[in-house]
Amino acid sequence: MIGNPSSLNRICHVVFGAWLVGAFLVMSICAWYLLKGRFTTFARTSMTVAACFAAFTTVLQSISADSTARGVVRTQPIKLASMEGVYETHDYTPMTLFGYVDTKNQTVHGPQIPALLSFLCFHNFKQPVQGLLSMPSDEFLAARNPGLSPEELAKIRPNYWPVVGAVFQTYHLMICIGSAVFGLSFLALTLLWRGWLFKTENPLIRFLLWIYVFAVIAPQICMQAGWFTAEMGRQPWIVYNMLKTSDGLSRAVQANQVVFSIILFALIYILLFVTFIYLLNSKIQHGPDDDEGHHTKAIGASSDASEIAEDLFSRKGRASHQE
Ligand code: HEM
Repeated sequence: MIGNPSSLNRICHVVFGAWLVGAFLVMSICAWYLLKGRFTTFARTSMTVAACFAAFTTVLQSISADSTARGVVRTQPIKLASMEGVYETHDYTPMTLFGYVDTKNQTVHGPQIPALLSFLCFHNFKQPVQGLLSMPSDEFLAARNPGLSPEELAKIRPNYWPVVGAVFQTYHLMICIGSAVFGLSFLALTLLWRGWLFKTENPLIRFLLWIYVFAVIAPQICMQAGWFTAEMGRQPWIVYNMLKTSDGLSRAVQANQVVFSIILFALIYILLFVTFIYLLNSKIQHGPDDDEGHHTKAIGASSDASEIAEDLFSRKGRASHQE
């Protein structure tokens, strides 16, 4: 697996995704502290670090996303065609921004940008992206299904495609929400640079900070949607073009054993999730500790920087924290 041609792209894409998840978690907590006027010095410092890190990771993730998509078109062209709902092969292949796939009539509906998919896949506006109707090739199908006529081969071709509508939707969910994540990262950096991000008395800034509070979920959705795309998109293969998932089933494992494992996993993960949310919430409510492990006092939104510094670092301040 390490030597797999897609490994490096995928590892980078997932790691950068996880960095965005972390940066957005920090931004969410800091935005909430700023809105509530609690731990504002800490929140400003952490928000500054997280916003810069999110913007930096956005650049890396954009490069990685481009490289990942071009890797998929090379190594798993059926997956790529499904992600974009491309059935026919023609020059200047357009990219559908959002919409749905009509699998019955084998068409895709939604706003499209002409030639964008060709450009993103090959860095060339004209080169066609191969459509599903010509994949897998007749030779490939004939080798696996000897004795069938060309018409019969065309009929069984869709058995070698994933569930196109689902792959299209999960992929577009990742792209649409991912673009919002990229936009929010740069917006935070711009507001920081202009000195506006911490002006919590401004209603527009307060509104934006609320968006950052809830945006914590956005990169999480991208991670899940991306994973669904990758795993559903490679079906029906467990080893691409060699072993079908249905042929890779172990006869030693019974269906009820699998169901039992799934239920057990689900219960354990629900328990872990509830514990995680509980602990995270109590940590957020408790706020940061200072260097010596003392709980930092919550400071009102109206305090100015010098007041905060005095409060935090004066002997008087320390004594009151110890209390
Ligand atoms: C907005 C532009 C993006 C593009 C063009 C893009 C492109 C892709 C592509 C082509 C795949 C399929 C990879 C494969 O099957 O080998 C993928 C998977 C994935 N993406 Fe994205 N992505 C984008 C944004 C994001 C963001 C923002 C995140 C996370 C915060 C993310 C997380 C993932 C994950 C976790 C996978 C599954 C990888 C795997 O299991 O190998 N993506 N992405």
